[in-house]
Amino acid sequence: MSVIDLGLPPVRPAHSGAAPQVPADMPTEGPLVDRFGRVATDLRVSLTDRCNLRCTYCMPAEGLDWLPGDQLLTHDELIRLLRVAVTRLGITSVRFTGGEPLVVRHLEDVIAATAALTPRPEIALTTNGIGLDRRAERLKRAGLDRINVSLDTVDRQRFARITRRDRLADVLAGLRAAKNAGLDPVKVNAVLDPTTGPEDAVELLRFCLRHGYQLRIIEQMPLDAGHTWRRSEVLTADEVLATLRRHFRLTPDPAPRGSAPARLWRVEGDDGLCGTLGIIAAVSQAFCSACDRTRLTADGNVRNCLFARTETDLRSLLRSGADDDALEQAWRAAMWTKAAGHGINEEGFVQPDRPMSAIGG
Ligand code: 5AD
Ligand code: SF4
Repeated sequence: MSVIDLGLPPVRPAHSGAAPQVPADMPTEGPLVDRFGRVATDLRVSLTDRCNLRCTYCMPAEGLDWLPGDQLLTHDELIRLLRVAVTRLGITSVRFTGGEPLVVRHLEDVIAATAALTPRPEIALTTNGIGLDRRAERLKRAGLDRINVSLDTVDRQRFARITRRDRLADVLAGLRAAKNAGLDPVKVNAVLDPTTGPEDAVELLRFCLRHGYQLRIIEQMPLDAGHTWRRSEVLTADEVLATLRRHFRLTPDPAPRGSAPARLWRVEGDDGLCGTLGIIAAVSQAFCSACDRTRLTADGNVRNCLFARTETDLRSLLRSGADDDALEQAWRAAMWTKAAGHGINEEGFVQPDRPMSAIGG
């Protein structure tokens, strides 16, 4: 369902730069809320749409048309928007993503500036782990609290096939460095391949238990640049659990789930190793009603959902001289129109134009 179908005021197209209309019934202060009463406290910031891998479910082999440099937020523009988010909108946690955030050379400076905000938000990073071995210490020192490293298989050939790059060893070195730097827990995000996925999941879980990493298996969502995603090909959480149960003892984790998308399981292997497993059933068991996220793209657009069909262009607003009040109200208006759910399972679902690499995971 589009925003228009819901009878909502039309949202400005991106890149207009004009101050947005503020809906009459929208609160202009307090928490960042939408019409359904959800409160956004978790900000995802995509720092770049570029990446040094080419995962088949994300990017074509030749890459994409990257965002031009003059459209990217500068360091100062980004920190100003983060300050608005933290001091005016109640954002308590910031996760930096990409593309691949480690290709951003000044990432440590962005993290340090975020850590200097008051109240200090929790700071997390989602990365593919390439180059992390050389930077984990510095990132931790700059203020990074938590890390998720994407890894879909521990088989070198399959890794090279999925990512189109033979870089498994770099990712494994990155994981070790993150642990040694004291980032705790180190989480491993896996999007499973429809054919080899069950086997990959078993090996990944063994690997994570052995090294003390926390595995999180994510159902593949329709966010690929090629728009080739088919629901029938998605390996569902139930299918993965059924396979894992043949090799591990799984019991539901008693901790309350809250707004966290992952359903947690306590895991025990035959060799006595124990740990925690998270399963993110974004497609088969949507958790949109508990969503607490808001998103900022590398070119300064607010997205109220991964699957939003509209965006609010804060960069143009900022560059046209808008004050913090105007930025705050534009961000609030963007979130107010958030749809009830992503609609992946509904007839007529339309995939967003931007791929995952330009939205941020
Ligand atoms: N569906 C689910 N997760 C995805 N990711 C990338 N593309 C998709 C998709 N289509 C994941 C990556 C990474 C995070 C940024 O998002 O594997 O862990
Ligand atoms: Fe890069 Fe992540 Fe996309 Fe893979 S999924 S190509 S690591 S942005």
